[in-house]
Amino acid sequence: MNELSSHTLRVPNDWDRRGLPAWTYHSAALFDLERTHVFLNHWQVACHVNDIPHTGDWRAFDLLGERALVVRGQDGAVRAFHNLCRHRGARVVDGMAGSCKGALVCPFHGWVYNLDGTLRGAARPETFGTGLDRQKFGLKPIEMEIWQGFVFLRFLPGPQPSVAECLQPYAADFTDFRSEGLLPVGQHGYWGQTPVNWKSVCDVDNEGYHVALAHPSLQELYGRSYTDVFHPNGLSQSKATYGDRPGRLWSVRNYVKLSPLQDWLPPHLQRAWNYYGMFPNTVFIFTPEGVQYYQEIPISVNETWMSFCAYRQPNESRQTRIARYLVARIDRHTSAEDQQLTIWSNESMKSLAFDGFHLSDLEYGVRRHHDKLRQLLPVMTLQSPPREEEIRARNEEMACQGAG
Ligand code: FES
Ligand SMILES: [Fe+2]
Repeated sequence: MNELSSHTLRVPNDWDRRGLPAWTYHSAALFDLERTHVFLNHWQVACHVNDIPHTGDWRAFDLLGERALVVRGQDGAVRAFHNLCRHRGARVVDGMAGSCKGALVCPFHGWVYNLDGTLRGAARPETFGTGLDRQKFGLKPIEMEIWQGFVFLRFLPGPQPSVAECLQPYAADFTDFRSEGLLPVGQHGYWGQTPVNWKSVCDVDNEGYHVALAHPSLQELYGRSYTDVFHPNGLSQSKATYGDRPGRLWSVRNYVKLSPLQDWLPPHLQRAWNYYGMFPNTVFIFTPEGVQYYQEIPISVNETWMSFCAYRQPNESRQTRIARYLVARIDRHTSAEDQQLTIWSNESMKSLAFDGFHLSDLEYGVRRHHDKLRQLLPVMTLQSPPREEEIRARNEEMACQGAG
């Protein structure tokens, strides 16, 4: 059994409860820095290996102008490349998921790539002067790590250690959940856009203080036992147990009644919902019936895509399937409730009356997330908004001072 308490970081007695200054949620210049210092240089989960079980199966993953493609090769290996044709930059695969027969064919002029990314050939090769160097024009690889069946990508080198090291506090639970064998559920994921800065979504997500009021279903299901647990590397886990009372709301009542005991799981995971957060924008949710992960994918300073993917155990019983359906139903309501909260929080940052958060100890997870961001981009510590055109330079200056 995973002894999580030994990794728990304690909340100090006294701390700055204000949160990030309001300007950091609406500055396009800062958003530009977040692109390279927070997103492209941190691990992102792109899919699970079982999303692409066969040779030629592929999944796409887009992030802030970068386009990745993860594909299963002839040799069974999974590889990640930029989804960018070396001829004139077209997408080599179009869409979010698909399968190709033995090769990737660019839809623009028909350059053909092997599944290991090497260039097989171009249409009309004789029209390329002295010849086309096939060694030189393969798809560009992207740093990739497969951990517990999930495929993680990183577009730029960054401060996090390997995924295995970073997520080590979660390793025993993922293994207990048989994460490597998970199968995707139905159509892969859904996407929805929300009109807020990505940090406003995280701020709501990073604390359980709001559960009692904002999420009646969750409160009824597990509110009494909800706890946040903090780990190194910006990881934060929330866990809760259910089943000690029947529940009145339809989904909760039926879930508590129908969810079968999964006796293959260790006792601490059998009647529990666990949320495993990974900095900066990913959360894995494990319930006894299955697994989901979701990510806040920023689109612009005030638009964020919510990406969501779900998985189940192989050989799932009918009763487990029903319980999983009820989990999804509870989750759908929870997400809708959260979305409204993120909108209010984000718009408040533009109000003349807003003068910062005043966070409870139960919202220490918000502070930890902000601390990680301030560490990466010290300009975020400035309470008054710098001029947009000065933000980059101020940040560099402050980073140098901090390092010196
Ligand atoms: S852009 Fe791909 S073949 Fe021309
Ligand atoms: Fe919430």
